[in-house]
Amino acid sequence: MASSFAVCGLHLRGRGSLVKCLQKVETSLHRSIGTNVVAAQTEATRKDEDEKEKDGHKSLYALQAERQEQAERSVLISCHSRTNEKKFLKYLSRHGEIKKHFFYESYGTYAVVEFANQESVASLLEGAAIPSISHECTVPFKSRLLSLSNLGSGDSPNQKSGLQCQPQTTVPINELIQRLSREESIDQQITFLTEAYQLTEENSRLRFLVCSLLKDIAAAYFPECIIKPFGSSVNGFGKLGCDLDMFLDLDGISGRNVKMPKSGLSLEYQMKRANSERSVTQSILSVIGECVDQFGPGCVGVQKILNARCPLVRFAHQPSGFQCDLTANNRVAMKSTELLYLYGELDPRVRCLVFTVRCWARAHGVTSSIPGAWITNFSLTVMVLFFLQRRSPPIIPTLDQLRDLAGPADKSVIEGNDCTFVSDLSKIQLSSNTETLERLLCEFFEFYATFTFSRRSINIRKGKEQNKPEVAPLHIQNPFETSLNVSKNVNATQLDRFVALCQESAWLLQQSETNTPKGHREGNTPTPWGLATILLPLHVAGVKISKKRRREPASDRIKGLLESLKNKNQQKVS
Ligand code: GTP
Ligand code: MG
Repeated sequence: MASSFAVCGLHLRGRGSLVKCLQKVETSLHRSIGTNVVAAQTEATRKDEDEKEKDGHKSLYALQAERQEQAERSVLISCHSRTNEKKFLKYLSRHGEIKKHFFYESYGTYAVVEFANQESVASLLEGAAIPSISHECTVPFKSRLLSLSNLGSGDSPNQKSGLQCQPQTTVPINELIQRLSREESIDQQITFLTEAYQLTEENSRLRFLVCSLLKDIAAAYFPECIIKPFGSSVNGFGKLGCDLDMFLDLDGISGRNVKMPKSGLSLEYQMKRANSERSVTQSILSVIGECVDQFGPGCVGVQKILNARCPLVRFAHQPSGFQCDLTANNRVAMKSTELLYLYGELDPRVRCLVFTVRCWARAHGVTSSIPGAWITNFSLTVMVLFFLQRRSPPIIPTLDQLRDLAGPADKSVIEGNDCTFVSDLSKIQLSSNTETLERLLCEFFEFYATFTFSRRSINIRKGKEQNKPEVAPLHIQNPFETSLNVSKNVNATQLDRFVALCQESAWLLQQSETNTPKGHREGNTPTPWGLATILLPLHVAGVKISKKRRREPASDRIKGLLESLKNKNQQKVS
């Protein structure tokens, strides 16, 4: 409980954060505390868990089902920025009660409108017309992506836009640095960054709506299919503007749970056979990718990347501005998403630290949106989780501990890999660790600045460093497919950069010159300090620091860091 109070007592911003923090505090009051994460007694079935919220936390499974259902009752409408909101809503409500709506901008102005009932969507689509374009032909594919036109009377062109658009992108880094520099503690800076970067309620709804629109295309072949978002869109670590990873789930069709009668007559479908599950996935994605390309309104730049380890269709969905990756038969990634979500829900410091480290890594080009030898956000998140498992006492449990807490309904084996772990958060005892975010961030940098990457592997299943089973510069064991290394792509240059940046950032966070707030006058540009300093390019942050380094005797910690650097270089030479 103390740990939750420590974090919730931080600078609070807005009602949303207050409610969230109060929920966390209430959760803490209902859950017992222990120094170790140990098994609790009760077991609930998956069904029970889905139906109710446990301690104010929803399982990812329940959250997804709720969002999917909302999305099915929603439409996406392109409209003019000068649209009269009142008139617009009055016009649409002829089809039924509107439950929620919001506007946003992305290559034009759009409205997401959620009706109370699905019949209203059918009625609205019934009344919509096919565009009459004289010089072009259109594919007559009707979807829930519509355009509003205002013929005749209409709103005056001089009328100022009255629409309040919801932001869909994060604040630019320079602005973020200024805003952070106005905060009064590093803990407040970290909380601010997390709140500024996380997905908004509206952005999250839009992600599910895009999945639902895509499902309408795939349903032409597979009526019972579901398209679910996974990865950072739903794992709690998504930043505004992150890509939309989607999973085409055909389990509803394949009827994995349908039992054949033991005797008597029965019928089964005749189905085309293929050599392997991989080739089935490839042909499904190939056909759906083609449909998205040829018929999908707003879908552009479709690429079929079918020979990748995990085949996918990549495209841009223009109306939402999302870069989309559609995969199929990717159930392990879905499990990783569920695991990351669970860790993020366990302790508010997890999300704060992951957001901060991801933002820091992006600011220094440690991660990139282009595939390459860089550390990925997924690997980086696993590194943060591992660090939190190594604290004393640990802040989060190991994956093996989560597996030991699982009930029968949690059992999951995918392609021979044990993916079982508890889904009921109330079975997990809170950690008694009360370290502040500032301390954790600094210790994170120190931890990886001195980690023996040359010999050791990161393993969140055991929560312990292990001997590296292969020669890759960075070895992070895949939590579920344990023979795989999630950071196989990372080369020595990128790892060295990461380590050097960790050393530099740990150092900066320990210096009184950079770790204390600089007073600023209202209206003036504040001097960067604390978290803002480590987000700046190092040559900018380093100007004063290098002078100071010469004047001040190095602290024991920094001496240690230099020592480890020296050792590393000696190892390389020998
Ligand atoms: P960003 O898109 O960078 O914001 O983060 P992300 O977490 O969504 O990562 P990404 O889009 O690269 O991958 C989507 C999801 O696929 C991740 O969240 C993981 O669940 C899973 N994933 C990605 N890379 C790996 C990997 O190397 N191994 C495993 N097992 N899963 C991965
Ligand atoms: Mg992603």
